[in-house]
Amino acid sequence: MTTAYLNGEFLPLQEARISPLDRGFLFGDGIYEVVPSYGGRMVGFKQHFARMEQGLALVEIVSGLAESDTREICQRLIDINSEALGENIGVYLHVSRGADTRRFHAYPDGVQPTIFAFAFALSAPAVADRHNHPGAKVAITEDLRWQRCHIKSTALLGNVMHFQQGYREGNAETVLYNEAGQITEASSSNVFIVKDGEVLTPPLDNQLLPGITRLLVLECLKKAGIPHRETAFTVDELYAADEVWLTSSGKEIMPIVKVGENVIADGKAGPVWEQAFALYSKLKFEL
Ligand code: PDD
Repeated sequence: MTTAYLNGEFLPLQEARISPLDRGFLFGDGIYEVVPSYGGRMVGFKQHFARMEQGLALVEIVSGLAESDTREICQRLIDINSEALGENIGVYLHVSRGADTRRFHAYPDGVQPTIFAFAFALSAPAVADRHNHPGAKVAITEDLRWQRCHIKSTALLGNVMHFQQGYREGNAETVLYNEAGQITEASSSNVFIVKDGEVLTPPLDNQLLPGITRLLVLECLKKAGIPHRETAFTVDELYAADEVWLTSSGKEIMPIVKVGENVIADGKAGPVWEQAFALYSKLKFEL
């Protein structure tokens, strides 16, 4: 059994309880983060905390959580659960607006936010060797979520429905495109393509989450002098790409070899992925 954190207390996950009037439960009224760790060391904690703060400010929740306290909670969850979960651990951190005395849409006054965190096992990182990575297959569909996808809201039904659409047919993810036929992101990851040696990813706006892995990958590319650009690209450009990758805290950088019925290039993980992933694996604790 793993240990979780709820409102100031560490306790067995199965014993954690919240009110059914919690607005996170009733409205999906909350913000969350997933912070990865490998061998007890977190990746991008500072950036994850900053994104959470931005999300909380956008929905006017005051968590009262300081960065140092939050880091301590996450680190403690990693340390105390390492025996049960192994050395690769993700921490799910969730702040909802809290439990009101009634179900009423307006933000209530004087309600304490609910702060909940738990640890879960992450799969071991891949090895940066393109000949030994099978690559993954994804579905593709029109993005039908809301217009505030830059907020990491716990209201994820749109993402869940899109993920399920692909998962049902054996896909690792579902890539999404907007009305103009441009790629936004995937249901729980960001999208990169490689064309003629240049790495491209859609620019940040309200159609996609500012992924922390995306940010760290861009930093790695910059440091290594690998050509890259934040720019819109279409579904057809994705099909014609030399490489397609997805990034997220759980996937790190995942090479994609098939999108819908379209095989990407030669259907194998590519050399730029191998290079970027090797750099990322080296720099992920330092950025
Ligand atoms: N998902 N886009 C969406 C819609 C996401 O939900 C996620 C992360 C990302 C990648 O962000 P990051 O690199 O910061 O993990 C992009 C998390 C892992 C989840 O919901 O479990």
